[in-house]
Amino acid sequence: TWTSNNIIEEQVAAVRARVGSKRVLCALSGGVDSAVAAALVHKAVGDQLTCVFVDHGLLRAGEAEQVEKDYVAATGITLKVVDASARFLGALAGVTDPEQKRKIVGREFIRVFEQAARELEAEEHVEYLVQGTLYPDVVESGGGTGTANIKSHHNVGGLPEDLKFQLVEPLRTLFKDEVRQIGAALGLPEEMVMRHPFPGPGLSIRIIGAVDEERLAILRAADLIAREELTAAGLDRSVWQFPVVLLADVRSVGVQGDGRTYGHPIVLRPVSSDDAMTADWSRLPHELIARISTRITNEVREVNRVVVDVTSKPPGTIEWE
Ligand code: XMP
Repeated sequence: TWTSNNIIEEQVAAVRARVGSKRVLCALSGGVDSAVAAALVHKAVGDQLTCVFVDHGLLRAGEAEQVEKDYVAATGITLKVVDASARFLGALAGVTDPEQKRKIVGREFIRVFEQAARELEAEEHVEYLVQGTLYPDVVESGGGTGTANIKSHHNVGGLPEDLKFQLVEPLRTLFKDEVRQIGAALGLPEEMVMRHPFPGPGLSIRIIGAVDEERLAILRAADLIAREELTAAGLDRSVWQFPVVLLADVRSVGVQGDGRTYGHPIVLRPVSSDDAMTADWSRLPHELIARISTRITNEVREVNRVVVDVTSKPPGTIEWE
């Protein structure tokens, strides 16, 4: 019978047998798949595993800290943090085209990760690379902007010949909910284990317009409020994903206190879905939407309007870019 503990024992034994005394590397993204895969491998081979977290500066409020502090505290994993946010923001400066943003984030990620891998390799040879590939990724590999694309951001395909690793993929037979159960059984932070899917290019594709620090700060503040209120309402699990989008190049007139404002709209995009291939807009309680709207317009000075996206997929996509 399927139990988290059976799977953990089985995978730990398999990884131990495969890896032996060789060194292993893993890129953490903040997402559940890489976090659980790394925790499993760590349980199997301990400090032979080194994780690298490339902080591209495009994560949501608290997410980098979650990886750097909570995850490390929970697992005891050796983590190398590369704060590359200045580099990513520099490369993204002035860029508005969605595909261009994706290319830039993907390219910079590979470069930064490659550099970190080279530094480790210089200390001691690294034979294996952990990937959080799930069963649905295996089945549908090669297609679309969905799950397969989530992997392409952290894909090793882009690494040069002298940095080719053998892959260790301990989640290859598992579905997402099984991975979450295993993560919980391994004692990983709850917020990490239950996290909604989040795109590799991060908040760069949730700012409609060019990306900069100031815009990121506005979006982070609004996004945090939306997430807090969704959680407080107990609705995390009935929503598949809840993108919060900043229309950075749009301004509208509002009124606040004695004066007129000329601020930016925030779009709430809660969706229900099974696999992200199709989706419907979530019928969140009006009271919840009202709370989120009131808090965002009160607490985030630059935002004077909150709108809800009521488009299904198709014809819309989940993300706005
Ligand atoms: P769309 O917007 O195409 O998104 O309906 C489907 C799913 O894919 C995620 N997504 C991405 N994930 N890199 C990723 O890693 C990307 O460039 C990307 N674009 C969209 C999106 O969040 C949703 O879960």
